[in-house]
Amino acid sequence: QGGLTADLSKILLTEAQIHQRVAELGRTLASEYADKDPLMVGILSGSLLFMADLVRHMNIPLSIDFMAVSSYGDRTTSSGEVRILKDLSNAATGRHIVLVEDIVDSGLTLDYLCDVLRTRHPASLEICTLLDKHEARKRPLQVRHVGFPCPNEFVVGYGLDYAGHYRNLPYIGVLKPAIYTT
Ligand code: PRP
Ligand code: MN
Ligand code: MG
Repeated sequence: QGGLTADLSKILLTEAQIHQRVAELGRTLASEYADKDPLMVGILSGSLLFMADLVRHMNIPLSIDFMAVSSYGDRTTSSGEVRILKDLSNAATGRHIVLVEDIVDSGLTLDYLCDVLRTRHPASLEICTLLDKHEARKRPLQVRHVGFPCPNEFVVGYGLDYAGHYRNLPYIGVLKPAIYTT
C-alpha cells in the first residue's frame, strides 16, 4: 500500500474494529441519554470523524455542537490554559452535555474545558473519548466513556493528525518516527 499508509509503522485499530466499538458506544449513550436530549459537543478538529459516526448510532433526540480551542505555546510545558477559538452555539445551562473527543492525552484540554463549562451550570457533564492515553495524563480527569485504551505512541488517523495531515485515514495507526523526527 502506498499513499499515507506508507508513513505508518503499524495499524493499531482497523476500520472494522473502530466501527464496531463506535456503534457500541453510540448504543450505550443512546440508552443512557434517552429522554435527556443531550448536547453532543465535539472538540475540533480531532473529534470530527468520531462524532459523525457516533451519533449515527444514537437513535434519540440530541443536538450537535462544536468548540474549537488552542493551547498556548509548547504543550509539554503548558499550564493547561486553553484559548477558546469557537464557543458553543447552544446555551449550556441545564443541558446534558457529552464532550466528544478523539483522544485524551495529558488531559489539559478537557480539564480546562470542563472548568469553563461547569460555570454555565449544565444539568450534567460527561466525557466520551475514542482513545484514552492514560499514561500521559497530567490532570486527574473523570472520563466516563472510553472506546479504546491507547499506547503511549504517536497515533494518527480517524481524526487524529500530525501537522494537520492523516485525519482522513479511516483507521488508526502508529506514525513512523522518521516522519516526525525529520
Ligand atoms: C488533540 C486531541 C485532543 C487533545 C488531547 O487536539 O484532539 O483534543 O489534543 O490532548 P491533551 O489531553 O494533552 O489536552 P489538538 O490540540 O492536537 O487539536 P486538533 O484536535 O485540531 O488536532
Ligand atoms: Mn483535538
Ligand atoms: Mg492535533
